[in-house]
Amino acid sequence: MTLATPVLDTDRLRLRPFTDADADALFALHSDAHVLRYWDSPPWTEPARAQRFIRMCRKMADEGTGARVAIDRASDGAFVGWCGLTGWIPEYRSATLGYVLGEPMWGHGYATEAARALLRWAFDTLDLNRVQAETDTRNVASARVLEKIGFVREGTLREDCIVNGEVSDSWVFGLLRREWR
Ligand SMILES: CC(C)(COP(=O)(O)OP(=O)(O)OC[C@H]1O[C@@H](n2cnc3c(N)ncnc32)[C@H](O)[C@@H]1OP(=O)(O)O)[C@@H](O)C(=O)NCCC(=O)NCCS
Repeated sequence: MTLATPVLDTDRLRLRPFTDADADALFALHSDAHVLRYWDSPPWTEPARAQRFIRMCRKMADEGTGARVAIDRASDGAFVGWCGLTGWIPEYRSATLGYVLGEPMWGHGYATEAARALLRWAFDTLDLNRVQAETDTRNVASARVLEKIGFVREGTLREDCIVNGEVSDSWVFGLLRREWR
């Protein structure tokens, strides 16, 4: 079953499907070691990784397993980053939220605004019951984004990842349909 990736407009952002033209900006984002310091896989070193990521986004839509959207700033069209819902399981009515924004875009509430818009679409369109998110326990900004949206911190996955050679714990967050407003 296919799942059309949406175009969503918020006060300050436009969320839209990735195109091939995003490859350079996407590579710049994912090759930035500081942006990826709490990410569970290393920064990209090959520009071809960006093309692969964009192909994966299309495959996800074709196979109906999720929706990953590029985020642009509405005022000037600047590439902000991306957010996505992956691992959609219709039987369980559940999916997983993720996001990465370029450092110059941090601290303006963009991640919260984008994630809220995508979740609003998903709760309506996919009839989700639960959305899960995981963050490295050191990633205070990401945890704060989830808390602002209404996610509940449900537990700790001890020594879940090894990030840049450092063993790290992850927090699991969950947002239930009945808690979403
Ligand atoms: C995590 C990330 C998406 C946040 O994006 P953002 O647009 O800056 O997020 P918002 O502005 O919506 O909210 C960030 C919140 O964290 C707070 N915050 C940021 N850094 C903080 C810090 N070091 N200590 C405490 N609070 C912090 C901000 O003050 C803000 O909270 P507030 O609105 O109550 O003031 C962004 O930093 C990012 O892309 N990081 C790299 C990739 C990543 O880690 N992705 C998530 C993986 S789970």
